[in-house]
Amino acid sequence: MTTSPLLISVDRRSRTPVFRQVYETFRRRILRGELRAGEHVPSSRDLARTLGISRLPVLNAYAQLLAEGYFETRRGDGTYVAPSLSRPARLLPRGERRIAAHAAALPPYQRPVWAEMLGPFQIGQPDLHSFPIEIWSRLAARDARRTRVKALQYGDPQGFAPLRELVAQYVRLSRGVRCEASQVLVTSGSQQGLDIAARVLLDPGAEAWIENPGYWLVRHALQAHGCADVPVPVDGEGLDVNAGVRLARKARAAFVAPSHQYPLGVTMSAARRMQLLAWAQREGAWIVEDDYDSEYRYDSRPITALHGLDDHARVIYIGTFSKVMFPSLRLGYLIVPSDLVERFLAVRQAMDLCPSHAVQSTMAEFMREGHFARHVRRMRALYASRRAALAAFVERELSGRVTVMGDPAGMHIALLAPGCDDGAIAAQALREGLLLSPLSASCSGPSPLRGFVLGFGNTPTARMEVAVKRLRKLIDEGSGARQAH
Ligand SMILES: Cc1ncc(COP(=O)(O)O)c(C=O)c1O
Repeated sequence: MTTSPLLISVDRRSRTPVFRQVYETFRRRILRGELRAGEHVPSSRDLARTLGISRLPVLNAYAQLLAEGYFETRRGDGTYVAPSLSRPARLLPRGERRIAAHAAALPPYQRPVWAEMLGPFQIGQPDLHSFPIEIWSRLAARDARRTRVKALQYGDPQGFAPLRELVAQYVRLSRGVRCEASQVLVTSGSQQGLDIAARVLLDPGAEAWIENPGYWLVRHALQAHGCADVPVPVDGEGLDVNAGVRLARKARAAFVAPSHQYPLGVTMSAARRMQLLAWAQREGAWIVEDDYDSEYRYDSRPITALHGLDDHARVIYIGTFSKVMFPSLRLGYLIVPSDLVERFLAVRQAMDLCPSHAVQSTMAEFMREGHFARHVRRMRALYASRRAALAAFVERELSGRVTVMGDPAGMHIALLAPGCDDGAIAAQALREGLLLSPLSASCSGPSPLRGFVLGFGNTPTARMEVAVKRLRKLIDEGSGARQAH
């Protein structure tokens, strides 16, 4: 280690390059106020000599400090600490550091458990082992080899045109959505779709109905935008429109998952759909339809989307590839009324310019070559058998303790277990490697439903029996503990 009279030192054994050490030391000493504004620094030649190093790294460090405004030079007067740095940053009072009220009001961020483990009953997880990863990789590699300079440019903010065409075709055929490719916006999963929809349709402070219980990230998207979410109860027929009208008739929007409600798994009845559309038309409100897993119905053809019943361009449809492909793909889509496409694009562009080209292009190939349709068909059969198996295990092991909610659809079932401390049981289950989602966590308000949401998408049938038995034990221990108190 060699140190100059200015306390600039270098350590030649360090892995940090010498120029970086010189630069960092000067910068640190200036910011701490140890070197003052206007103070001369030694010439690069002198400093190099004092430190016993070559002049080049010192010149590089000085050039960097000059470029960043820490040093200045004047002809014939050498190099000195920039006079504009008149007060060392360290001495400045920290001052007020206030973040937006909407951001401050969001619940604390918690790293999702799905990032840590893929245990039985995780919600929202497709069977990733069944995904044809070789086909996907082959298409992605082929696509990468064919990449031309044009594809490196910013893309269409609305999404890759061939993919939009395929998505439009798909939702028309499989979901009864009436749309053209010009109404499709490719998004980063349905979450970005929710976010863009909230920004385009709602002013901060506006009221919006959400389902209670419901998908917590809908609530977050609204809260992050400063909207007032109005939790509206869900029963066996879906969102209770009359209750919504009683709670907030003048709400600006309703966020619903009518095909397969999360978490209760119910399908919104035809009567409720009509009632909801009529309310929206009467009050000039929007309906945002989250159609996140409707490809999977096991006792009938997929239910037609609410969008297909809307004659007044009030429904914004949100779809996702997270459940039918894989969640890290981050591809979803919005179907918006033609006259709003331009506004959605204006907001979308302010957010992230355009979706990434590579995944869109590979996705389009995956669909065009028929792999997507084949994969959905295979997964539908697999999940149907898993759901049937899980329902049978629940019936055998948990009857009398829980009530199964919802239709044979999707990738989860909800178990109502009134009176149980579902949060405490889920916490204990997690310690035992079982991922239970407590129903109460999806509820708003003072008397939440109790029970569990069990994902079966990623839970092989062979692992279910043991897991359900463990759940029974946890429920019994939980109720025993409560009685002992
Ligand atoms: C109700 C609901 N909507 C949407 C999604 C999917 O979100 P994304 O498309 O952003 O992955 C999920 C995932 O679990 C969900 O449960």
